[in-house]
Amino acid sequence: MALQEFVEELDSLSASAHQALTSATNEEQLEEFRVEFLGAKNGRLKSAQKLMGSVGKEDKPAAGQKLNETKKLILGAFDDAKARLLSIEADVLDPTFDPTLPGKKYRLGRIHPITQTIEELKDIMGRLGFSIAEGPEIEDDWHNFEALNIPGEHPARDPLDNFYLSVAEKSGVSDAGVGQPTLMRSQTSTVQIRVMENNPPPIRVISLGRVYRPDTADATHYPMFHQMEGLMLDVDVTMADLKTVLRLFATNYLGEDVTIRIRPSFFPFTEPSVEADYFWNGKWVEFGGAGMVDPNVLQSVGYDPETISGFAFGLGVERLCMRRHSITDIRALFTNETRFLHQF
Ligand code: PHE
Repeated sequence: MALQEFVEELDSLSASAHQALTSATNEEQLEEFRVEFLGAKNGRLKSAQKLMGSVGKEDKPAAGQKLNETKKLILGAFDDAKARLLSIEADVLDPTFDPTLPGKKYRLGRIHPITQTIEELKDIMGRLGFSIAEGPEIEDDWHNFEALNIPGEHPARDPLDNFYLSVAEKSGVSDAGVGQPTLMRSQTSTVQIRVMENNPPPIRVISLGRVYRPDTADATHYPMFHQMEGLMLDVDVTMADLKTVLRLFATNYLGEDVTIRIRPSFFPFTEPSVEADYFWNGKWVEFGGAGMVDPNVLQSVGYDPETISGFAFGLGVERLCMRRHSITDIRALFTNETRFLHQF
């Protein structure tokens, strides 16, 4: 078959397909069209494709191209006709539909700024090789204090500084031992213990979540807030690694090459302990506590402090979020005022 003839054959095929489609007024006709033109075995498009065999070898590329174009045209027209018939049907089906009424306006929600911050922190720390660990918000004495080198008489355990819950009976809520006091965790350092109890070193995790302290709400305090805990343990992990991780973290989060500094401090579960600040807008800004994991803590979870060392840090998520967005009152984050939340 000559190329010219083949092309004419296809042109007339698409012409009759178009005609059939424009005159189709219901689904049955559309189905008839589908069988007649697009049927996989005896459809007219298929037959046209078979004609390709009789086209001369040198004309094959051009013929193939024509065939593809025709196919596309017919399938496109078929889809259009389907869409047209569906919308007609929808109108007919719903006699109460009044197209002159104003439309409904759906208000899109936003992801809460704290959640956004958490996602970003996970992303940054993930790129530094830290995976995510989680722990319960209702904790027992052991994970919140004891294992963290905070013994019974320590002032940090004062009932005035913690939300203690009634003594656990057979609790389904937490895995605290029966008869043990429980509390809303006051720090995410609890998760350090849980991770070490269940995994051998090396460890490189972060944990993000809520913590609770009975503070009166004001511009900078709230009885619930979020922390990001970090823990890295291996042989030969040093303070230099801690400083590097904190600096890379701050640089990534704040988007410039920020300087950080560490100042001596005290936490029962780290030795030495530091307070970390970063330099931002001409000022030193505190962003959290950190230090080398205390040998007593390593021992309490059965690690050997002679071979394993590492660092831990705990940063306030609200502080990071507020600084980034110039939010000056922490309460704005938790009153769920949509006009405020819509800005993020
Ligand atoms: N848990 C401490 C706090 O809540 C922060 C911290 C975490 C300090 C890890 C040192 C190491 O203030």
